[in-house]
Amino acid sequence: MTRSLLLVGNWKMNHGPRAARTFCADFERHKLPTHVRCWIAPPFSSLAALQDHTSLIYGAQNVHWAAEGAFTGEVNADSLIELGCSFVICGHSERRNLFGENDESAAKRAEAAITKGLNVVFCVGETSAERNSGHTQAALQRQLAALSANTLGSNKAKLIIAYEPIWAVGTDRTPNIREIEAAHASIQKFLAGRGKSEVDILYGGSVNTSNIAEICAVTSVAGALVGRASLEPDSFAELAKILA
Ligand code: 13P
Repeated sequence: MTRSLLLVGNWKMNHGPRAARTFCADFERHKLPTHVRCWIAPPFSSLAALQDHTSLIYGAQNVHWAAEGAFTGEVNADSLIELGCSFVICGHSERRNLFGENDESAAKRAEAAITKGLNVVFCVGETSAERNSGHTQAALQRQLAALSANTLGSNKAKLIIAYEPIWAVGTDRTPNIREIEAAHASIQKFLAGRGKSEVDILYGGSVNTSNIAEICAVTSVAGALVGRASLEPDSFAELAKILA
């Protein structure tokens, strides 16, 4: 039986409402293998344009933990649900490194989302300094340790982990297969120790048409979190077709 795989396109700060709709219309023309699910994460400002206009599963790139209140610039889970989102990305390294988020805030966002029934793609990954000093596992475990028992135990929605080495994001550098296997094994082991034995783990960081087959052939890789290669409908569809 062919393993089911998930590709999540993180558009970051690309594609306004019009471009997002055009993307979906073009993407939906592609015939994709049924065992590969493709989700997209447009910017907040493009979500409303997709509601009732696409059959694609879409989600947001962040969420605030509070139900509502004085939090300028933030968006709550209820609004995302009302906009038709199925999932949210939490703890992306760009949020952590460029916008001051940390393990605790990322984990709080994940808990709020999952409690409301939004699936969570929770990102973890090491810096190149951490990798070079042999601290990859410790970095991953520190980030995962922030996840609450409510998040890990929730059956309202799915927790998906994305292993994204920070040095591989946007750089055209990727870890080798053994490094991906080791990181995924360490994530699996840590979560199993917290009572969560079944968890899908994606790989993210410079995924493209040349490396996706090899990466997704790794048994512990449940799919990919894709940045640049998800921005054009043809290239995102091509990633799925390669996995046929
Ligand atoms: P790139 O695929 O552009 O390296 O981005 C990866 C990423 O950050 C996805 O969340």
